[in-house]
Amino acid sequence: MKKTNVLIDCDPGHDDVMAILLALANRDRLNILGVSTVAGNQTLDKVTLNLRKLYTYLGIKTPIAVGSDRPIIKELKTGDFVHGESGLDGFDFPNPTVEVDSTNALLFMRDALLNCDEKSVLIATGPLTNVGLLLRVFPEVKEKIDYISLMGGSVFKGNVTPFAEYNIYADPEAAHIVFNSGIPIVMSGLDVTHKAYITNEDIMELERLNGKVTGMCAKLLKFFTKFHTSEGYKNFPLHDVCAVMYVLNKDIFTGQNLLVQIDTSDTLHRGRTAADLREWITHDSTNTLALLDVDRNKFIEILFDAFEKLDSELA
Ligand code: BDR
Ligand code: CA
Repeated sequence: MKKTNVLIDCDPGHDDVMAILLALANRDRLNILGVSTVAGNQTLDKVTLNLRKLYTYLGIKTPIAVGSDRPIIKELKTGDFVHGESGLDGFDFPNPTVEVDSTNALLFMRDALLNCDEKSVLIATGPLTNVGLLLRVFPEVKEKIDYISLMGGSVFKGNVTPFAEYNIYADPEAAHIVFNSGIPIVMSGLDVTHKAYITNEDIMELERLNGKVTGMCAKLLKFFTKFHTSEGYKNFPLHDVCAVMYVLNKDIFTGQNLLVQIDTSDTLHRGRTAADLREWITHDSTNTLALLDVDRNKFIEILFDAFEKLDSELA
């Protein structure tokens, strides 16, 4: 089977790491052109360090490119309240020996996309700063992107504000460029990511397996659940995994084609992915497939199979 070219743009981040692991376990189906970092869950230095530490620990390597250290217009508001001081608290990684391949993610992404004969899928699991800038500065890449599978936004409610989800809220101006780019968007918003949850029992199962990857994930997830438990969650959404999972297993998701606009106003609605749900309005075209549901049992089964596959590969 022909491999799908993918670029992953992320801010690791606990769930970003789970998403990257799912991609790494599926290198027989995905040609990972590279992974770029963006400021979000933590500062750019920290999330890049986290990626280097992860790759050093795994002994696996894809190209790494360093991207934007702040949103396009406003100041960075990190997600340290969820992901901790390092942005990836909960596991003692070795000192990183893996180096970055590019300190200019925009040039790196442009070249990677243009050098492929086939179109690629762009996967984004952090604020959309790099992706927005890429499309604005190098619009010639648009025809090389099949679709953008992103974690961000929501049709019905936010998490950092009543209306906005963190990745979109962190850089709505970048999101505005992306959603208006003409490239098809697959939006794994909170509507679906809250259905793609992991339970304490699942985490205990990873702990029991205790392989190189399953054991690491158990420890990382135990930290990740602390914040969520304190907020009253009983189960824990693996947001970013959805963006990779969709590329690999479209059939476990359902969604709706919608016109989604980004609210960049300085109001309570800033960062909202405003989706037009009016059945009686017909738009010339919609820009987004908003994922709304997922078969959670299959989702967890596929994810755990991926972790266990890496366990045996790396044993
Ligand atoms: C998103 O924000 C970050 O904390 C997660 O990594 C995910 O990308 C969820 O709102
Ligand atoms: Ca993320």
